[in-house]
Amino acid sequence: MDYKEGAYKVRDLRLAGAGRKRIEWAESRMPVLMRLREQYAKEQPFKGYKIAGCLHVTKETAVLVETFAACGAEVAWSGCNPLSTNDEVAAALAEAGIEIYAWHGQNVEEFYWSIERTLDRPPHLTLDDGADLIFTVHHRHPHLAEHIIGGSEETTTGVHRLRAMAEDGKLLYPVYAVNDAETKWDFDNVYGTGQSTIDGILRASSVLLAGKNFVVAGYGHCGRGVAMRAKGMGANVIVTEVKPTAALKATLDGMRVMTMDEAAAIGDIFVTATGMKDVIRGRHFVKMKDGAIVCNTGHYDVELNLKELAGLSTDTRVVRPNNREYTLENGKRIYVLAEGRLVNLAAAEGHPSEVMDMSFANQFMAHLHLVRKHEAGETLAPQVIDLPEELDQEIARIKLETMGIRIDTLSEEQRAYATDYSAGT
Ligand SMILES: NC(=O)c1ccc[n+]([C@@H]2O[C@H](COP(=O)([O-])OP(=O)(O)OC[C@H]3O[C@@H](n4cnc5c(N)ncnc54)[C@H](O)[C@@H]3O)[C@@H](O)[C@H]2O)c1
Repeated sequence: MDYKEGAYKVRDLRLAGAGRKRIEWAESRMPVLMRLREQYAKEQPFKGYKIAGCLHVTKETAVLVETFAACGAEVAWSGCNPLSTNDEVAAALAEAGIEIYAWHGQNVEEFYWSIERTLDRPPHLTLDDGADLIFTVHHRHPHLAEHIIGGSEETTTGVHRLRAMAEDGKLLYPVYAVNDAETKWDFDNVYGTGQSTIDGILRASSVLLAGKNFVVAGYGHCGRGVAMRAKGMGANVIVTEVKPTAALKATLDGMRVMTMDEAAAIGDIFVTATGMKDVIRGRHFVKMKDGAIVCNTGHYDVELNLKELAGLSTDTRVVRPNNREYTLENGKRIYVLAEGRLVNLAAAEGHPSEVMDMSFANQFMAHLHLVRKHEAGETLAPQVIDLPEELDQEIARIKLETMGIRIDTLSEEQRAYATDYSAGT
């Protein structure tokens, strides 16, 4: 481990060269964020502001971090999942002078130690994926909130919890719900999670998807993305849900819908994408076929109850990277990928750069809004705030432009027609 107090703790600084190549690869596929970097680097809007961030240390995150730094911010970073850090990327960021505490395979203590280090010098802004940093501020260092202008949250689970906190009057500063922006939730969660979850399953298991019974728990944004991709690869997709409208959408999209108790007995591959705990538990594991593969792509490692699985097992061993075999008392073997943590980040590289381009453009703009409002003397209430709709359209417009796609625009007459209440049949 390479450690320099107040500067970095990473696996091995010698990995920096390889990490830099990965970051350059991502940069070349993130034109919206790179355009924002170019535009705001001259202006230095973040000069004098420190951003503490807690988000998967991937090549795409590095592009975001270096964009903040190029625009004047002081940045301190940690990963938001013990298994998602890319050690090469972490080394490259440390070498570039970014304060970073992150390595692959942290235990829970090391995970929170890293978050704590990013708060050693009080931040003005916080950036979260799953709200662990903002919870650390609220639960352990509430006095820091006095200095904090605001924050942002990247994922569905984090936004749900922060909204609950705000409703109880417990949130100490405003937070932008980056997850809920259309150019994030409808793209990153659907197409990003869809592709990268399949990528993680294949890297960890190398199985053929065609012809398999592929069970997806949760048909929200992420689940729909995973189901679509699995269907495209020839799997027979089965969906489990708790929300009637989501179950109905899955049915009309051509998926089979049933309960997890029914699906457990016939599934070959299981993926949870719900944000809920205990979606697959002991009574489901015992019903599964010999050789069933089980994984999770929701934020926390609570969707699969692995304690109950371990209690039902006589033996466990790692059979290949990110793939653990459990032998049950009934003799059947179950294969759990990535220890039940986000399979796309632990076993693969997370979402492709092209989709993170839009998510992170939203992150950048959320923080720019916070700084701009602060400098204008505008105080935001300690609530979870949606990003403005115009921003979504602007990000999508730039993305289309960089893809060489042109679209039509409404004429003045058409614009007027849309709201003309005197017109009828
Ligand atoms: N893997 C990734 O990289 C990645 C990316 C984005 C979001 N996420 C995480 O994925 C999870 C889902 O996010 P989303 O945006 O799809 O949320 P969503 O709210 O759009 O969808 C979640 C769905 O799960 C269903 N559900 C809840 N409990 C269930 C249960 N017990 N059984 C079956 N279905 C159940 C809900 O009814 C809902 O339809 C969250 O934890 C989110 O933070 C992961």
